[in-house]
Amino acid sequence: MPQSHEYDVLVIGTGAAGLTVALNLPTHLKVAVVSKGKLSSGATLWAQGGIAAVLDSSDSVEDHIRDTLNAGGGLCHEDAVRFTVEHGKEAIEWLVDRGVDFTRDANANLHLTREGGHSHRRIIHAADATGHAVSTTLGERALAAPHITILENRVAVDLITNRKLGLPGNRCVGAYVLNVEDNHVELFRARFVVIATGGASKAYRYTSNPDGASGDGIAIAWRAGCRVANMEFNQFHPTCLYHPHAKSFLITEAVRGEGGYLRLPDGSRFMDRFDSRAELAPRDIVARAIDHEMKRLGADHLLLDISHKPADFIREHFPTIHERCLSFGIDITREPIPVVPAAHYTCGGIMTDLRARTDINQLYAVGEAAFTGLHGANRMASNSLLECLVYGRAAADDIIRQDPDVPPPPDAPAWDESQVRDSDEDVVISHNWDELRHFMWDYVGIVRTTKRLQRAKHRVDMLSREISEFYSNYRVTNDLLELRNLVTVSDLIICSAMQRKESRGLHYTLDYPGLNHEARDTVLIPTTYRVRTP
Ligand code: FAD
Ligand code: SIN
Repeated sequence: MPQSHEYDVLVIGTGAAGLTVALNLPTHLKVAVVSKGKLSSGATLWAQGGIAAVLDSSDSVEDHIRDTLNAGGGLCHEDAVRFTVEHGKEAIEWLVDRGVDFTRDANANLHLTREGGHSHRRIIHAADATGHAVSTTLGERALAAPHITILENRVAVDLITNRKLGLPGNRCVGAYVLNVEDNHVELFRARFVVIATGGASKAYRYTSNPDGASGDGIAIAWRAGCRVANMEFNQFHPTCLYHPHAKSFLITEAVRGEGGYLRLPDGSRFMDRFDSRAELAPRDIVARAIDHEMKRLGADHLLLDISHKPADFIREHFPTIHERCLSFGIDITREPIPVVPAAHYTCGGIMTDLRARTDINQLYAVGEAAFTGLHGANRMASNSLLECLVYGRAAADDIIRQDPDVPPPPDAPAWDESQVRDSDEDVVISHNWDELRHFMWDYVGIVRTTKRLQRAKHRVDMLSREISEFYSNYRVTNDLLELRNLVTVSDLIICSAMQRKESRGLHYTLDYPGLNHEARDTVLIPTTYRVRTP
């Protein structure tokens, strides 16, 4: 029998963003945090490089702001950048107080590494496995907190709003959530709902992201009536390990920050032909340069080389990468690493303000699912975990402020399964999934053209119709839900890319190679914009 739950706050997602919200809420609030997989199933666990914050006396908040604005190609919202950067130090202190064991130097100060676009050493890290340290520490804290209930294997399907219930007001009052363990959709009623579901890089065939990065929260919020912005800016990380058995393994930008060189197959360096900052240029420039050289040479990968550094230095700074590459027979202390670019980060998302509020009352969005205006046309490395922490705290603060005035959620009907049956042709799901991720990679990737985008739009519309039909006839499963959401976010990416008639930051199109005079966000509004929603 499907269950029905009532909480003060329902947080969807157990990455850095969701757990930060939950851990900043007071104990008198009853909080549920759901994850579609295990507690550590999001991208947070896999973060390598670290978290950007101004901690060194030779660095300054103004410099971090300037670097972020430069990387963002004129599209960052300066208020969001300032808000995030000014709260950086506090966010790191909060993590240290929770027990995150960051790497320290000989004087026991936090060790700072360097990444592309940053003019100073300002990346706080736990060797090359920062995300693991953050994810496991916050996860342990949340499990130990008496007011927080962690529910794994629960997949949010759709939000429940006053509008959907036929009630007055523009309020979110809960969500339908599939319990993967017994295959029933449960009703979660809540006074506040927080979307912290991470990004959408799984829309692409090659990605650095874990399996669950299917943009669920963005699609769910869009269906509920929230605006989304800047979805065309999907970031491609320049260096993922190229090996037939290495699924989605990233080689952190800190390897270049600590002196690693990018090389062509003949061993020569090439980045200085593309940018005076060479290997430390912002990510969009490096990824495009690699893509250009691979296409020019017909190469299936290029090389990242740090073997000129002492072996002890490499093993100490990059223990995870060293070990992982060794397991594939590559000794990074002696030879270069084969690398390719892969979809890495969703800069756009659900539009929010400085309190993480969305277009629907009592609905918040935080972390990679949100569009705060921080990243502009290109996210600077290690600013995203910072954003999760700063806006996670902002959402919790706003919930605390509103708490006394927000009544219990109204009654809502249980999920209706009377008209659907079990699927007898799951091949439709796996086929459409492959097709979608293939054409997104080929037509909506690092370099775009109008013709390719039109082809992609034509195909996404067809898939959308098919999945819509499938969704209305068959019982939901995690795979079907992910596919339904992936089709929607892919459509949002394509429609946004078609609207941007210029090349800016991560959006590069051969048909409009120049920059428009005015920098504008691409804002899609569900009530006026025709993106099919299965
Ligand atoms: P995630 O950590 O992705 O968590 C999403 C959560 O939502 C998961 O718990 C998932 O199960 C859940 N979820 C999703 N959909 C549903 C649903 N429908 N129902 C229920 N639950 C759902 N950033 C940096 O700043 N520094 C770095 O060094 C860095 N390195 C990175 C390395 C890699 C390999 C990758 C992939 C990313 C890296 N990033 C880095 C980016 C950063 O890790 C992410 O942007 C950030 O962790 C996102 O956190 P989040 O809390 O928003 O989402
Ligand atoms: C990396 O370590 O290169 C990833 C950093 C990031 O995505 O911010």
